[in-house]
Amino acid sequence: MNYDIKDINLAKKGALRIEWARNNMPVLKLIRQRFSKEKPLKGYKLAACLHVTTETGVLAEVLTAGGAQVYVCASNPLSTQDDVAASLVRNLKVSVFAIKGEDTKIYYQHIKSVLAVKPDITMDDGADLVSAIHLAPKTYNLKPIIGGTEETKTGVIRLKALASQGKLRYPIIAVNDAQTKYLFDNRYGTGQSTIDGIIRSTNKLLAGANVVVCGYGWCGKGVAMRAKGLGSKVIVVEVDPLRGLEATMDGFEVMPIKDAVRIGDVFVTVTGDINVIRQEHFATMKDGAIVSNSGHFNVEIDIPGLERSSKAKRATRDFVEEYTLKNGRRIYLLGEGRLINLAAAEGHPAQVMDMSFANQSLSAEYITKNYKKLKNQVYKVPENIDKNIANLKLKSMGIKIDNLTKEQEKYLASWEIGT
Ligand SMILES: NC(=O)c1ccc[n+]([C@@H]2O[C@H](COP(=O)([O-])OP(=O)(O)OC[C@H]3O[C@@H](n4cnc5c(N)ncnc54)[C@H](O)[C@@H]3O)[C@@H](O)[C@H]2O)c1
Repeated sequence: MNYDIKDINLAKKGALRIEWARNNMPVLKLIRQRFSKEKPLKGYKLAACLHVTTETGVLAEVLTAGGAQVYVCASNPLSTQDDVAASLVRNLKVSVFAIKGEDTKIYYQHIKSVLAVKPDITMDDGADLVSAIHLAPKTYNLKPIIGGTEETKTGVIRLKALASQGKLRYPIIAVNDAQTKYLFDNRYGTGQSTIDGIIRSTNKLLAGANVVVCGYGWCGKGVAMRAKGLGSKVIVVEVDPLRGLEATMDGFEVMPIKDAVRIGDVFVTVTGDINVIRQEHFATMKDGAIVSNSGHFNVEIDIPGLERSSKAKRATRDFVEEYTLKNGRRIYLLGEGRLINLAAAEGHPAQVMDMSFANQSLSAEYITKNYKKLKNQVYKVPENIDKNIANLKLKSMGIKIDNLTKEQEKYLASWEIGT
C-alpha cells in the first residue's frame, strides 16, 4: 500500500480523535449503516482531495463501507491533521498523501499520487484535483471519470468557469450549493472555527476589538455574528450592494476597505476573491493589527505586497508572523494567509460536517446510479437528498417539526381564496 504521511505512529491519537468526531456525526452513521449493506460504491476508485481532518476520517469510513477504494490527498498544505492521516492509513487501509506544512511542490506531487490510481470518481475541495486533470490531461493518462463532487464555493466558481468554456470533462455535483451545506457549514462552521483559529493563534481578547470582516457571504455572516457575540465591534467590507445592505440592517458598520484598514484591530478576509487587502492598505493599518484569511486560497491578502512593505519579519508564535513595516508599525499575519480555521484550529465542528459529508456521500452514490444521464456540467445536489439530510439531522437532534394539514396543502397550491 502506497502512502506519504508524517508519522504512522500518530495513528492511535488520530483514531481517538476520529472517534470523537464520529460520535457527533449521526447522519453519517445512518448512511454508513445503509452503505455497509448495499455497497453502492463497490468497484469504484474514489480520489478525495479534502482537508484531512477527523471529520474527513469519518467520511472515508463511510465511503469505504460503501465499497469504494478511497485515496486521499490534502486540499491545502496547512490543513492536514497528521494523526488523522496516520490513523486512516493504519486502521482503514486508505492510501493518504498529505503532510501538514508540505510545500507547494509536494502538495502537487501528492495530487499526482492520487491521480496515478486512475480514479472513477473525484471528490474535491477547491478544485485543485479537477484543475490538475484539466490542465494536463495527458500527464495522468486517466480512464474516463464518471463524475465528481465539489465541497466549497471557490471550487464551484472554478468548475463553473471551466464548464462555461465547454472544457469540463465530466459531470460535477456542487455539494457547496446544497442548503444543508452552505447554510450551516459555511455560516456556523466557518463562523465558529475562524474565531477559534484567531484565538488559538493569538489569545487576543476580542471583546472591544474592532473586527473587520471582508465579505458578507455565508461564511462572512457567520464570522461577523460570532465576533459580535464575543463583544467585538464588527465592520463589514462588501462589494455587493445587497450584501452591504444586509450587513447594515444586521447591525454592522459597512465601509470600503481603505477606510476600514485605519480602524481595524483584527481583519478576516472571507470573500473567495484576490487581493482584498492590498499593499497600499498595510501602510495605514494600526500598529499591532492582526490580519487573517478564512477564504479558500491564500490570495485574499496581498502577502507579496506585505513583504515588499516590510523591513523585518519574524515568527513570534505558532501561526503568527510579525512584519515590521518601513514606517515602523507591526502587522501580524496569521497562518501564512491560509484558511485560519484549519491552519491554527481544527476546522469545522463535526456537527456541521455531518451534513456536508452526508451530501458528499449521497452525491457519490447518486453519481454511480445516474452518471450515464449526466452531461459535463456542474449540477446541484438533488433536492430530495438535501431535504432528506435536513430531516435526518433534525431527527438525530430529537427535534420534530409540523406537517401540513390536507387543507393547508390545498391552500398553498391554489389561487382562488383571497381576502
Ligand atoms: N474556512 C473554511 O473552512 C471555509 C468554509 C467554506 C467556504 N470557504 C471559502 O470561503 C470563501 C467565501 O465563501 P462563501 O460561501 O461565504 O461565499 P459567498 O459567495 O457566499 O460570499 C462571498 C462574499 O464576498 C464578497 N466579495 C467578493 N469580493 C470582495 C471584495 N473584494 N471585497 C469585499 N467583499 C467581496 C461577495 O460579494 C460575497 O458577498 C470561499 O473561498 C469559500 O471557498 C471557506
